[in-house]
Formats: sequence, structure tokens, C-alpha cells
Amino acid sequence: MGATIIDGKAFAAGLREKVGALVPAFVEATGRIPGLAVVLVGEDPASEIYVRSKDRAATAAGMASFEYWRPAETSEQGLIELVEELNADDNVDGILVQLPLPDHIDDKAVIAAIDPAKDVDGFHVVNAGRLAVGEDALVPCTPLGCLMLLKDRLGDLAGLEAVVVGRSNIVGKPMAQLLLGENCTVTLAHSRTRDLADVVRRADIVVAAVGRPEMIRGDWLKDGAVVIDVGINRLEAQPGEKRGKLVGDVAFAEADHVRAITPVPGGVGPMTIAVLLRNTLVAAHARAGLVPPEGL
Ligand code: GUN
Repeated sequence: MGATIIDGKAFAAGLREKVGALVPAFVEATGRIPGLAVVLVGEDPASEIYVRSKDRAATAAGMASFEYWRPAETSEQGLIELVEELNADDNVDGILVQLPLPDHIDDKAVIAAIDPAKDVDGFHVVNAGRLAVGEDALVPCTPLGCLMLLKDRLGDLAGLEAVVVGRSNIVGKPMAQLLLGENCTVTLAHSRTRDLADVVRRADIVVAAVGRPEMIRGDWLKDGAVVIDVGINRLEAQPGEKRGKLVGDVAFAEADHVRAITPVPGGVGPMTIAVLLRNTLVAAHARAGLVPPEGL
């Protein structure tokens, strides 16, 4: 027996392929290629890796990819002007400004400048609000990817107890909204939650997005729970290791009794970029006045 490992890498590859297969029909219908613009400010090495992967994935799916690398000294106003140019560019369907931004730039002001119709990260308050009231919205990529994995595993989620640990705007809050939209009973737990272990023990679905290595222990997880681990934490290198091990927010080795669990790496991580391509294609359809394809 033992837990089923949820292969997010394979699911993401399938989704990228599905998106790629739908691009030619869009090109045929509109005479243009769906385009994704990614903006990176400064030289954060992790962000540079993400941006390159996004570029490669978009190109592989047959989309146009536009990269904007700006120096760390870029002003907030300069960045907002770039966003406004991209808003006005008809070849751009999706705009993603890579976070974190340098300290002197206010993330909120930059996100607010993005046309909500091109906000493929789903970070704009208009999209967050639409999600909250159950209207069509562009939804943040990571939680939407988590929901896809859950529905693939469990089918209908109605009536299930879902506990989301972590209340960030990027993952926790939109994740809770998505699960509520699927008729789960949702608890949004966080660092100030009392008796967190007992709260997590109730859950049929656990989504861990706190950014603390292996904080959620095996004995917090009930038999048969489905566990989605969003955490990507690098431990300190042990003697003989060049780099520390990557671990999630869940103590994976203690979770043999659960029904299914995502590994780290290879679980949720690869889903984010696949969903970004999906969101870009959905945004492109909406902007062109076309109905987005079924089943995306
Ligand atoms: N930095 C880490 N993850 C993300 C993401 O999903 N979107 C953006 N814009 N920045 C990020």
C-alpha cells in the first residue's frame, strides 16, 4: 500500500501539450499568434530561471514570447510605463511581471497598472474580486494548478473538508476561493491558527502553502487525505552535498498513510507554467471575442 504519488510533472506536460494543440485554431480564427509578455526587474537568480522556463514553454506551445529584462534601478514609474505599453500592444495577450520586485517598487501599484484582461497571473484586484464573487476571472496559476490536480484525483469535491494552510494573495486566498467554488467546506489556516495540527487532522484535502520546510507532520494528516504541497524549501547543504535538498511544507516521508500526495520537486511546481500558458490562451480568446475552448 502507501500513498499514491501525484505526478504533477506529467500532468503539466499533458496540459502544455493540450494548450499547444489549441493554438493553431486560434491563429486560424484571428490571424495572429497568442502572445505572452514577461517582465523581469533586477537579477534574482531564481526569477531568471523562471523567466527562461516561461519563455521556452510559451515558444514550445506555439505562442509568441516577449521578454523584458530591466535593471534593478528601474523606477516604479518606468515599470508602469512599460506595463502600459504592453496593455496597448495588440500582440500581447498576457502580461506577467515577475515577483519579487526590488524594494523601491510597490508591487501593488504595478499590478494595478496591468489591464485585467491581460492579467494572466490573476493578481489584479478585479480578477481577485471576480473570483471571490464567482464570475469568470483569470485565476492565479499555482492554486488553479492545485485544483486541477485535486479534481483529476478526486473528481467531484463537493462536501469535502479542505484545509488550506497559508493565506498569501498568490496561493492561499485564491486556493480557498477555488475550493469554495467547488463546494468544499473550507478552512483557511495560517501562522496564528490555534491547534493547527487538530485543524489539519479534519481535512480530506490539505493544501500546504506556508513556505516552512516539513512543518506539517505525518500525524497531522488523516488516513485517506489528499495532500497538495506547494512549498519549495531548500535545506542547508549537509556535509558532502553541494546544495541542500529541496523539501516541501509537508514531511513527505511520514505521509505513507494518506491517499495521495504531491512530491517536491515534481508535484505542484511544474503546474504553474503550464497553467500560465492555459491562462494566456484563455485571455487571448476572451480578448478576441471567442469562447475559450472546453476542458482547458
Ligand atoms: N514569483 C514566483 N511565482 C510567481 C508567479 O506565479 N507570478 C509572478 N508574477 N511572480 C512569481
